[in-house]
Amino acid sequence: MAYGAVMPPIYQTSTYAQSTPGGHKGYEYSRTQNPTRHALEKALASIENGNHGLTFGSGMAAIDAIIKLLKPGDEVISTNDLYGGSYRLFTKIYEDFGIKFHFIGMENATNIEAYINKNTKLIWVETPTNPMMNIIDIKATSEIVKKHNILLAVDNTFATPYLQLPLDLGADIVMHSATKYLGGHSDVVMGALVVNDKMLAERLYFIQNASGAVSGPQDCFLVLRGIKTLHIRMERHCENGKAVAEYLASHPKIENVYWPGFENYPNHNIAKTQMKDFGGMVSFTTKGNDYDKAIKIVERLKIFTLAESLGGVESLAGHPASMTHASIPKEKREQTGVVDSLIRLSVGIEDVDDLIADLKQAIG
Ligand SMILES: Cc1ncc(COP(=O)(O)O)c(C=O)c1O
Repeated sequence: MAYGAVMPPIYQTSTYAQSTPGGHKGYEYSRTQNPTRHALEKALASIENGNHGLTFGSGMAAIDAIIKLLKPGDEVISTNDLYGGSYRLFTKIYEDFGIKFHFIGMENATNIEAYINKNTKLIWVETPTNPMMNIIDIKATSEIVKKHNILLAVDNTFATPYLQLPLDLGADIVMHSATKYLGGHSDVVMGALVVNDKMLAERLYFIQNASGAVSGPQDCFLVLRGIKTLHIRMERHCENGKAVAEYLASHPKIENVYWPGFENYPNHNIAKTQMKDFGGMVSFTTKGNDYDKAIKIVERLKIFTLAESLGGVESLAGHPASMTHASIPKEKREQTGVVDSLIRLSVGIEDVDDLIADLKQAIG
């Protein structure tokens, strides 16, 4: 690093001097490449055990780049419980470009096989899913996919590389909303991809530069700083997530608690095998499934902030049916469990007794 700076500098520059046309030091223009972004892309590849990293202006821009690998007539098999914005991008934008999406339950990986045909080019997996915390077996999915020469992409936003390494389990592409745990402080919006295959990386770098949805140097600096504490933050997120999930499960007014750490939770054994711990995301429903009562609970919370997003050090609460998943039609979202009383918690790293006391007063 020039001058011995311990921290990577923020190269707030759009362009780079050339001594003669083409005579530059590896950087020509900051849409194509920027040293701060490059440092982050290398760091992300390294923590995901991958060879190539790419960052984008948002998680959605990263997903958008993946879908741009496809052509009209191609088909995608996606989990049916997924971030509402991913569903919206697939159905409201890319279906109009002639790409066909099948949304299916993937709790049993063998379900996927029935939807594969010669046009299938991509399997889209989110695990744990947002907001129902379903666990999808990445290794079993990759074994099915490999027989058919199809790409497997895993949205690793909820687990982070601290808990789960999809490339090691056979995925081709790992995707992140770096806005969440990687950034970790709710102060940046960014997306990321990591891949192993050089040719796939080259196609994605081409799309990144050609479409131009890149991340800025200041934001890259913030995420570089964020990932330095990822492991410590995740340990506390997991510890607090467990305590909150267990408290909710014992509460007489709570119907269901969705947290993959419970021993009787569907696919708990898969979660135990493919994840190091169970994360800090917990969803729950109240007895009677009353919309207004759920809204009252989220309004009464004081330490949990009612807000979109997740993964920051401060705890957040959300009401998926009216917030993150409002873009999914009611009948469709209810089929996957996103009912009116569902509340999703991003359990932060605060004192856990304060978090439980807050839930206690809000649930009443
Ligand atoms: C699982 C998941 N994937 C993708 C995204 C989209 O990321 P971004 O908001 O950074 O565009 C989100 C955002 O909430 C998410 O939760």
